[in-house]
Amino acid sequence: MSSLAFALRCLRDPRRIGAIAPASKALAQTIAKEVRRADPGVLIEVGAGTGAITRALAAGGLASDRFVVIERDPDFARLLRRNFPALEVLNRCASSVNSLVVDALSVVTLVSSLPLMSMPKAEARQSVEAMLALITRQPGSRLIQYTYAAPHLQPFKSVPPGWRWRRVASVWINLPPATVWSLEPVAHMAPHAY
Ligand SMILES: C[S@@+](CC[C@H](N)C(=O)[O-])C[C@H]1O[C@@H](n2cnc3c(N)ncnc32)[C@H](O)[C@@H]1O
Repeated sequence: MSSLAFALRCLRDPRRIGAIAPASKALAQTIAKEVRRADPGVLIEVGAGTGAITRALAAGGLASDRFVVIERDPDFARLLRRNFPALEVLNRCASSVNSLVVDALSVVTLVSSLPLMSMPKAEARQSVEAMLALITRQPGSRLIQYTYAAPHLQPFKSVPPGWRWRRVASVWINLPPATVWSLEPVAHMAPHAY
């Protein structure tokens, strides 16, 4: 899908699309590199949109146990199914992510493009609660979320006890510039984390 078509969809539902352009290659690669830093286990992408990040995650034969994509917009979901026939694409709200059946011992890596600041507040709250419920029930899991806010502003404050945000990188070659964050248990943080 072209950037123009993405922008047109943004005009139709600006709060849920939350951006004027798909993720840039630089942003997608930054996220894919962060995902590869550890065994992703079951990889779940929410709010995949045009699949710009999906493509980077799927490239190079990422060794995930399973790759599930969740996208609420039916047109984007159709496009994702067409472009990634090998992936499980679910056309539903991210607030249902915790109902996915995942082996009790599997690590989950959740990658979120959800526009948490602009999407309807109740939907954002329910989606965050569902993502937190999923990563806290699966030991060793984490949430990678990017934001367009100022680089020091974490995606959301209400993190479970013993979990912290780690700022991965700011990507200036993106419209708008984005900051990638990883929410992980304090005990599992990389030495350079703060
Ligand atoms: C910033 S755009 C994603 C951009 C995407 N990374 C790309 O490069 O095309 C946000 C996406 O989240 C999706 N979205 C918004 N609310 C959602 C929800 N509650 N559940 C699932 N997807 C949602 C939108 O339809 C949109 O595709």
